[in-house]
Amino acid sequence: MTERRARGRLWGVGVGPGDPELVTVKAQRVIGASAAVAFFAAAGRPSNARAAAASHLRPGQRELALYYPVTTELAAGAGYERLLTGFYDEAADRIAAVLDEGVDVAVLCEGDPLFYGSYMYIHNRLASRYRSEVVPGVPSILAGAAVLGAPLVCRNEMLCVLSGVLPAEELQRRLAAAEAAVVMKLGRNLEKVRGCVEAAGLLERAWYVERATMPEQRILPLAEADPARAPYFSIVVIPSAEAPTR
Ligand SMILES: C[S@@+](CC[C@H](N)C(=O)[O-])C[C@H]1O[C@@H](n2cnc3c(N)ncnc32)[C@H](O)[C@@H]1O
Repeated sequence: MTERRARGRLWGVGVGPGDPELVTVKAQRVIGASAAVAFFAAAGRPSNARAAAASHLRPGQRELALYYPVTTELAAGAGYERLLTGFYDEAADRIAAVLDEGVDVAVLCEGDPLFYGSYMYIHNRLASRYRSEVVPGVPSILAGAAVLGAPLVCRNEMLCVLSGVLPAEELQRRLAAAEAAVVMKLGRNLEKVRGCVEAAGLLERAWYVERATMPEQRILPLAEADPARAPYFSIVVIPSAEAPTR
């Protein structure tokens, strides 16, 4: 009689914005207890998610590095989308092969896994086939407000979360209607985003936050940020209108 091995459990683990002390107690436990960890990284670069969780990894743990085939800042297009779909299919297959061996896999994800997190592409492909659980993490937008020391939204205000990849007209239209806002995915989009924030009349309240909670963190009024130097790991934060101005 052939013995059927129980399949491993899939974990989507949020590791927070960068500071290892912002990895939750549950995330630490799950990372330590999983025989394998997987993480995404830009080609040829260290993984930010792995770096945030490094002190919670243990020797002998199996590591699956999932390197993006292109930088995420390339202009969106059909070819790019196809490439990414193939990449996520392959990444999910690699993780599924480990789960099929009966090994638990913790997929590390910057911030929160289900808030613009790359884990969701694995989740969407595998969560219906394997036992799975998501461990929420501190998202970058809340880390950004914390390092600014500025209330993000209060009372009946609404928060508008935008991607800097959006076309300028769309960004400007949504910012003009926003009370408080965060723009993610800056990088090469910073100049466009700054123009839209200014056109929406919000430049005086806007902050540029780079690598929040990491040792290289930088915070500047958006008006003073150099668009030539914006890395992907940066956000624009427009806090509550009731936040004291600095
Ligand atoms: C793919 S999204 C991942 C978001 C993540 N799941 C979260 O909960 O924040 C990547 C974007 O998050 C933002 N980001 C993530 N970590 C950050 C940090 N420590 N400081 C500033 N921005 C960050 C940047 O805008 C980056 O382009």
